[in-house]
Order: sequence, then structure tokens, then C-alpha cells
Amino acid sequence: MDMDQRQFLEFLSASAAFSFFGGALTSCTSLEKWARGMAFKPLEASTKDDLVLAEGFSYKPLISWGEAINSKGQTFGFNNDYIQWSELSGSSSLVLWVNHEYVDPLIVSQSKRGESRTKAQIENEMRQVGGSLLKVDPSGSSWKVDFSSIYNRRLDAFSKIPFSNGEIIAGSSVAIGTLANCAGGKTPWGSFLTCEENYDGFVGEVEFTNSGKRILNSRVSKKYGWSKHYPRPPEHYGWVVEVNPLTGEAVKHTGLGRFAHECATCTISKSGELVVYSGDDSDDEHLYKFVSDSRTSLKSGKLYVASLEQGRWILLDRESDARLKAKFPTQLDLLIRVREAAKILGATPLDRPEDIEIHPHTGDVIVALTNNKKKGNPFGSLLKIVEKGADSSSLDFESSTLLAGGEESGFSCPDNLAFDGRGDLWFTTDVSNDSLHEDPYKFLGNNSLFYLPLSGAGMGRAHRVASGPVGSELTGPCFSPDGNTLFLSVQHPGEKSPSLKELTSHWPGGGDSLPKPSVVMVDVRKVFS
Ligand code: FEO
Ligand code: CA
Ligand code: CA
Repeated sequence: MDMDQRQFLEFLSASAAFSFFGGALTSCTSLEKWARGMAFKPLEASTKDDLVLAEGFSYKPLISWGEAINSKGQTFGFNNDYIQWSELSGSSSLVLWVNHEYVDPLIVSQSKRGESRTKAQIENEMRQVGGSLLKVDPSGSSWKVDFSSIYNRRLDAFSKIPFSNGEIIAGSSVAIGTLANCAGGKTPWGSFLTCEENYDGFVGEVEFTNSGKRILNSRVSKKYGWSKHYPRPPEHYGWVVEVNPLTGEAVKHTGLGRFAHECATCTISKSGELVVYSGDDSDDEHLYKFVSDSRTSLKSGKLYVASLEQGRWILLDRESDARLKAKFPTQLDLLIRVREAAKILGATPLDRPEDIEIHPHTGDVIVALTNNKKKGNPFGSLLKIVEKGADSSSLDFESSTLLAGGEESGFSCPDNLAFDGRGDLWFTTDVSNDSLHEDPYKFLGNNSLFYLPLSGAGMGRAHRVASGPVGSELTGPCFSPDGNTLFLSVQHPGEKSPSLKELTSHWPGGGDSLPKPSVVMVDVRKVFS
């Protein structure tokens, strides 16, 4: 650790103030001042229908929605999100995993807004979610897809995926499909974790009466209209799904609980245990931690939920609490309804906990809290969790705000995070298209990618690196093994277009073309020069 970094971290840990950075550096508001000593001049807000990068950065396309990925007729799905790689042993190639979170029927089915689609159109939409496995080969300073590779596969809303340990849920040990795949994680043994987030829009939700009777919650909208043709039990979704990079075999792990899983961030603790952090991305939902029974499997373990007030991880085990024992007939029932168990035990409601990353040098756990408008927090923040003894197995922790969003700090609604090799944080923003470009979000322009140095020049300030096309959200930032390339998803360009004749984006093709979610590769060597 160099001097600057140590001073910064000491300074940071000494500050319990809300928005330490925003308060301490309020005089440095011009881009010129922010840029002093930095390797690049930060980009200003943009509303252009383009992927705009700060000077000195460049990008190349990797793949777009609809491209054929193998000879079986499978294609790259819609709304690419989380990206992760696993090295192919004995070669310099990678197997890449890309989530496909949801569809926009206007673009995918070429239907009118709100119009019902045919069964064939729905089936096509169901093949656009889940995830893609792609072999990518090094190509000069970046990468290219090997479209002839046997590793190129799709998981979608029709893939049969068993539950871990042969568990039977809603009458079956096998779920049909994975969907709402938002962010994810990677296990120490190189498999991918893909997280099922807002499944209720596809399959609805169940609730349970005080006597334990299961009923479909009629207030939850199945907004995509798939269940008219393919009704599915809601309990089969909302899980963390592990995918084998080489075979595409998958399993839904029940031990990590069922909720709107944003991510599943793995680490090995000081005491040698496999620990997985996960956020439940809804207003007033919670932050969870799973401590596995094994370093080589996620089949069983202890699930905890965070109380920030107590600085304590609370065990979610029906055997350890009479209230849980009375409410849930089995531990699997508790895991299916884990939000209810968390609330019974007094878990802290949070402002949409999304992505989580672990500082590669300090072990600090950084959590994106996107926002909570109902609680008067429109801009969100980055939360820092410091586990006692820097041991992620610990049941005690301290928490503080690393950096709050807002006009002063220049960003809003942090979502996906990635640490680079130096321990600096990169993050993307997700202001909803319902309110983007309106007060109080006008200052942001289009959703963007920011670089937050945690030491050295520009330390503690969010510097904009990229601005996405109209209607898009930049998601899934993932550094290549050498750190020179940032794989980045451009998700939902043109979202909220009123009609095919009034598209708000034509990215990346330009002209009159349909907008296409795509993965790009940003050359980030500028920052490290
Ligand atoms: Fe799918 Fe929480 O973003
Ligand atoms: Ca997300
Ligand atoms: Ca999001």
C-alpha cells in the first residue's frame, strides 16, 4: 500500500460523515480541477444517441443482439447485462458469460406498445433472456468471438435447470428456464453465477396467508404477458444459478435464498471459508451473506442478513428462532420466503442494494445503493462495509457511506461496480427512463460509466468515462485478465420509444436501424498510462 492510499484509507475510516467526499471536496467542482493530475479529462454529461467516451479512450464492438453464435441456430439474446469470463485452460482464450435480463416487446416482437403478441412471438421473446456462453480469442489489443466454437451456447426461459440437492419446489425438482438475469458472480473454481432479479414481471409472485396457504398475489403484474401461454410457478425463480462454463450445465442454489437477486459476489475469507454477498434490489429490501459449508460448493451453508444498526449479520435459520420455526414448516420454505424471515429478525431496510464488489487490497465490501425515492433518496450512494478483522466470515461489521450521489458528486443511482487491479472503483448508473433528463436528474445526461480513484490523483471523485446512447444503461463492467480492456454492456438503447416509427435510439447501426443492445470492449489503457 502506498502512502497516498494509506492516508486516504485512514482519512476515510476516521470519517463517519454522510457523503464524506461530497462534503470535503465541494470546492473542486470544475472538470479542469477534477482532472488535475489525472490521466484523462472527464467527460461532460451528454444526451447524444451514441456511446461517447472521454478523450483518449476508444471502444470496439464485440457482439450485438440477434447475432448467430453457433451452427444450432442460437442467437445472442436481448438486453445484455452482467459479463464475466473464465480462462480456458491451455489457451489464451476465454469463455465469456453474458446475462440477458429482459426483453422490450416493441423491439423484439416488433409489436405495438401494450399489444398482446402471438404464442410464436412470446416463444421468441422467451429465447432472448437467460444468458450466453461465448468463446473469445485475443485479437491484437482486444478480443473477438470465435463463432465456430463448441463452447458457444444459450440458456433461456426454456432451459431445464434442477434445484440443488434434489430439492422439490412447487412440485418439481427442475425449473424450466432462467430469466431476469441481472448481475452475478464467479466462484473460486471458475463457474459463473447468474442472478434472477425481477422475475415477478414474467411469472408473477406468490404469497402465503398466516395459516401458510399459498395464493397467487394478484397485485403483482405479470407485465410481459408470457404466463398466458407458459404459466410457471413463481417459486422457481429468484435464485442464484450456477453455470458450468464448459458444458452449460446449470443448477439453482436454494441456500442463498430467493429474492430479487442482483448479484452473488464470492470471496474466500481470512479464515478460509467461501463467502457470497448478495443484494435484494427493491426499495427497503436487504443485504445478505452466505457462508458456505464447503470451499468448493454452494450446496449448503449458513445464510445471514445485515443489520446496519447493530453492525451484525443475523442468522436465517428456523432452528435458531422460535418465530421462524412457527412460521416456516421447513428451512426450504424459509429460503423461498426469505424476505419475510429477514423482516421478522429486524434486518435493515436498504435503498435498493444492487451490485457488490470487494476491494482487492483492503477487503472492504462496497455495495451500490441505487436509490429510494419514497424515502427521499433519489440519488443513491455507495455503502462501505468493513468486516471485523477484515475477515468476511465475521459476524460483526462497521458501515459508512463511501460516496453519495447527487449534483455535487456528479452521478446518480449507482448500479454495477468493478474494481481495477489498482483498487480503483468503476461504476455505472441506472436512472430509470421514467425520470432520466428530468429534475432532479438533468445534470446526469444519459446514463454513464464513472471512474472513482480511491488513491492518487482525483482520489474520491467520480470521473465520467463514458455516456451511453439515448435510453440505455451501461451495465456489466468487467475487466479482461490483463486489465487493459473493459467489457461493457450497452443495455436497452431506445427503451421507452413510443413506437417503431418514433425510436429514440438507432444505436449502434445509425440511420433508421433498430437499436440493438450490444457488448463493447473499452480500451482503458489511458487510465493506467
Ligand atoms: Fe437489474 Fe438491479 O438491476
Ligand atoms: Ca443491475
Ligand atoms: Ca439496475
